[in-house]
Amino acid sequence: MIRKVPSKAERYFSTGISMITSRGPQGPNVMTAEWTMQISYSPMLIAVFIHKGSHTIKNIKKTKEFGVNVASQEQTTEASVAGGYSGSEIDKLSLKNVFHISKPHKIKTPMIAGCTINAECKLIKTENLGDHVMMVGKVIHIKHDDTKSPLMYHKGRYFGIGGTMEPGRKEVIVNGTTLDFFKNLAEGKFVLKCVGVLVESKNKILVMKWPKTGFETIPLVMPPQGKNHRDYLARYLADMRLHIKVEKEPIMKRFVLKNGAEIQRINFILFKGKSTKLVPDNFWKSKSDEIISNLV
Ligand SMILES: Cc1cc2nc3c(=O)[nH]c(=O)nc-3n(C[C@H](O)[C@H](O)[C@H](O)COP(=O)(O)O)c2cc1C
Repeated sequence: MIRKVPSKAERYFSTGISMITSRGPQGPNVMTAEWTMQISYSPMLIAVFIHKGSHTIKNIKKTKEFGVNVASQEQTTEASVAGGYSGSEIDKLSLKNVFHISKPHKIKTPMIAGCTINAECKLIKTENLGDHVMMVGKVIHIKHDDTKSPLMYHKGRYFGIGGTMEPGRKEVIVNGTTLDFFKNLAEGKFVLKCVGVLVESKNKILVMKWPKTGFETIPLVMPPQGKNHRDYLARYLADMRLHIKVEKEPIMKRFVLKNGAEIQRINFILFKGKSTKLVPDNFWKSKSDEIISNLV
């Protein structure tokens, strides 16, 4: 086969490892498939991409069912054997010192014990895509074991899962009033997403007073999901009769506001703006304010 795209990069994908169980005239079988993923919540669907020469594909086409057994870190040997031999060569599941079988709940295909997830699937779609076939299964029974960690695959090697990685956020220590204000805006959301405009003049920045609290911030809004942020901000500024020309390029500021043990995560998408009319003095605030100093 002549490959038009250089192949080295494909080793740099990172995937989990699943073992796909199936059954056919020659009995049950298992193969390793890193190309396995959930593709819908409701109904819950899983797609597996299987090469055309495999024994598994013939089995699934016949029985219209398969098991997705997501390998745990203790299952490198199982993954290696299920991926290293074909069911046409050896009855892999009869290797009792390698595979531990568990009983299915809703299908007739056996499942593998010791996995992080076992999903029993009914085949609902088959599609040829390049040199693999996409087989989509509707999950009719699923269980997981949260004492197990998933096995990962990268550059042809197996890996355990590393520690969690926090997306970068600047920690800003604020007073209780400031934290309460933003917590109220967030209404319990994990991350408060807002879009604001920075209008600077000498050492000052344009602020607005919020109704009820009188709390001062740069003009900012929380656009509903799916709304264009810049347009929404521009409309808000026009409604507030603020004559501000909003520039095109935004910047992103990500904070975690802290006051004692209390925190609130905030994403600010900020546009620079130019005031096109004279703004009264009481609209300007010093840039040394605890939040504002981090925005400019
Ligand atoms: C780590 C690993 C990942 C694999 N991922 C896939 C995959 O996503 N799709 C696929 O068709 N084959 C994949 N394979 C290859 C099959 O598991 C292999 O061809 C197997 O022998 C097929 O078994 P069968 O003929 O019994 O169905 C993988 C193999 C290994 C070792």
